[in-house]
Amino acid sequence: MLIERIEHKWIESFCETFHQCQVQPGETAIILSETQSRRVNVELARLALERLGAHVVELNLTTPPIKNAIPVRSTGASDAIQGLDAVIQALAHAQFIADCTVEGLLHAPELPKIMKGVGENRPRLLMISNEHPEILERTVAAKGTEGQVRLAMKMVKSSRHMHVSSPHGTDLRIDLAQAVVGGVWGYANKPGMVSHWPGGLALAFPAAGCVNGRIVMAPGDVNLTFKSYLNTAVVLHIENDSVVDIEGSGTDAQMMRSYWKAWEDLEGHRACYATSHVGFGLNPAARWDAMAFYDKRDCNGTELRAFAGNFLYSTGANEVAGRHTLGHFDLPMRGCTITLDSTAVVQGGEVCWDLLEPKP
Ligand SMILES: [Fe+2]
Repeated sequence: MLIERIEHKWIESFCETFHQCQVQPGETAIILSETQSRRVNVELARLALERLGAHVVELNLTTPPIKNAIPVRSTGASDAIQGLDAVIQALAHAQFIADCTVEGLLHAPELPKIMKGVGENRPRLLMISNEHPEILERTVAAKGTEGQVRLAMKMVKSSRHMHVSSPHGTDLRIDLAQAVVGGVWGYANKPGMVSHWPGGLALAFPAAGCVNGRIVMAPGDVNLTFKSYLNTAVVLHIENDSVVDIEGSGTDAQMMRSYWKAWEDLEGHRACYATSHVGFGLNPAARWDAMAFYDKRDCNGTELRAFAGNFLYSTGANEVAGRHTLGHFDLPMRGCTITLDSTAVVQGGEVCWDLLEPKP
C-alpha cells in the first residue's frame, strides 16, 4: 500500500514541474481543488509554489452532486466550477493555475473564458492528474519531450490521412482534413497554454464523417475508463465515425457494450459511440504496465495515455465534429503502426524517434 503524505522528494517533483511551467516569484498562482480532490497533491502544489515564491491562493469547491446514475470517468471535463462567475473571474486573473480537480478542466465548459484571461493577462494552466504522487514523480517531463511533441503535432497537422494497422487486424482510416490537432508535453510554459501532467502525446480531433474501419483490441490493451487491461479481444467496427458493432464474447466486450448503452439510453442519442480523438503517446517514462503496480484508487491512468508508441483511440465528445456526450472511452493499444500520409510515425508500437529529432 502506498501512503499519501508529504515527502520531500515529491515537493521537489512539483517544484521541477512548476519551474518548467515558468512559475516566477511574485506571480499569483491559484490551486483549484474540490472536496473530492486528492489532498496530498493540493498540499504538495502549495508547498512547491510557495518555495518558488508565488503568491498562492487555494480555491476549494464543493464536489457537486452527480446528475445521473452512471459514473462519469476519464472525460477531463470537470463540472466542479458549476459556471460560477466568481470562480471563473478569479482564475482568469491568475498567472498560473494548478488544476487539482478530480476530472480536470481540459474540456470543462468554463475553460475558454478562464484562458481568455483579463486585460493583458493570459493564465497558464496545468492539470495535475488525479494520481498518487509517486506516479507524478516518475513522469516529470523529460527535456526533449516538448520538441518531440511539437514535431509530431506538425506532422499530423500537415498530413491529410492517418492510417492505423496492427497484426491483430486493426485497419482504421482517418481523414485529417479540418481536424484540430493538439499535444501536451507535461507542463504549461506559455501564456494561454493548457497542459497536463503526466503528459507526452500528440492527438487530433477529427471533423465529422472522417473515421472508418476496424479496431481490434487485443488482450493487454487498455480500457482506461474502466482502468483495466483487456483479457479478451474486442473488435470495434467503425462507420462514419461511430462504433456500429462490438464483437467479442468476453467480459471486456460485455462491459463496454453495457457502459455505451447506458449513455445512449440516458442521453437519447448515439454520440457516445462516435470518435472523440485519435493520437499516439510520446513519453518514454510513462509505462504501459504501470497499472499493475498500483491500486485503482492510486491512479487515474493518464500515464497510459502517454506511454511511447501507444495508439490512443477515444470515443465521446468531440467539439470539432459538433458532438456532445458525457460517455467517454480512452483506449490505448500496443503494437500498432500509425502512418501519416505515407510516413510511419509509429512502427509496430515503436515511435520512429528519428523523425522527431529537432533539425539543427
Ligand atoms: Fe480522452
